[in-house]
Amino acid sequence: MRAKILSLLRSAGDSYLSGEEIAKRLGVSRTAVWKHIQELRESGYDIVSHSRSGYSLREAPDRLLAEEIRHGLQTRIVGREIHAYESIDSTNLEAKRLAQKGAPDGTVVVAEEQGAGRGRLERQFFSPRGRGIWFSVLLRPPFLPQEAPKCTLLAAVAVARAMQSFGLQAGIKWPNDILYQGRKLVGILTEMSAEMDSINYVIIGTGINVNIAQEEFPAGIRAVATSLQEMKGEKIPRVPFFRAVLHEFDVLYQLVKEQGFDGVFDAWREFSITLGREVRVIGVRSGESFTGKAVDIDPDGALLVDTPDGRRRVLAGDVSIRPSHME
Ligand code: BTN
Repeated sequence: MRAKILSLLRSAGDSYLSGEEIAKRLGVSRTAVWKHIQELRESGYDIVSHSRSGYSLREAPDRLLAEEIRHGLQTRIVGREIHAYESIDSTNLEAKRLAQKGAPDGTVVVAEEQGAGRGRLERQFFSPRGRGIWFSVLLRPPFLPQEAPKCTLLAAVAVARAMQSFGLQAGIKWPNDILYQGRKLVGILTEMSAEMDSINYVIIGTGINVNIAQEEFPAGIRAVATSLQEMKGEKIPRVPFFRAVLHEFDVLYQLVKEQGFDGVFDAWREFSITLGREVRVIGVRSGESFTGKAVDIDPDGALLVDTPDGRRRVLAGDVSIRPSHME
């Protein structure tokens, strides 16, 4: 009902719509309309009212509400269902719960705040209220389980392209971090449930530090994290930015379904700040480390590193880019 009232107010533009007219069009009482309007105001919508002419929508809040995100979103698969929360433990965990109840391909879960945001390697992920976009996309792709890690690259390219459309030039560090001046803006955690030869679902969780001032980061990550606000020098409206991310995600996902990952890889290479650089790789499980020059990614999305002992293929690892004066 909220969404229907909003859409009526939006279609009226600057003009007023009377409570009676809204009630008639939606087949509810005027009191019900009034209650919904109050609720919308409490959610941050600036709705002015005039005793004779009715209601008019002046401004929508920059909050990650499902109806706001959906407004003007032109996607085919991604965002087909949007679950938005004020607060949640982790959007990846919620996406998993929804997946187990049968949520469809392209379901999006987003929250204003996460109480237990999870990063790679069991790390915590800082997800303060209202300052970022903490979201997960649930996919049910037709491809084989070994292809799933490549979805991480897809997500990184989607965010990088959305940034570009907002005038922000992103750099992707293999496989999944988006950095600005060596500091992390975006982290991605991909999880999967699969059988031997088919995927039940993939969950791609992405955390974008949007409007966080540098001093607001906890001391432990202040030196290594940053935000889009710091990058641009001004706050970024989260809802339009999120719509841009979902749009790019949708375009890439359709491309992958139709033609495979080559297009994603090419786009990833363009944004990469890892290729061509001297890197230090630390094996995720072995803890073994080595250095070399990152030369390319292979068809599995693995990083190819040339070392004095020959070419090494890195499927999972922590990669740090060595400062250029050490090259
Ligand atoms: C990393 O860089 O280590 C990955 C961070 C992934 C964070 C996102 S925020 C939304 C989603 N929900 C989570 O609990 N984690 C991911």
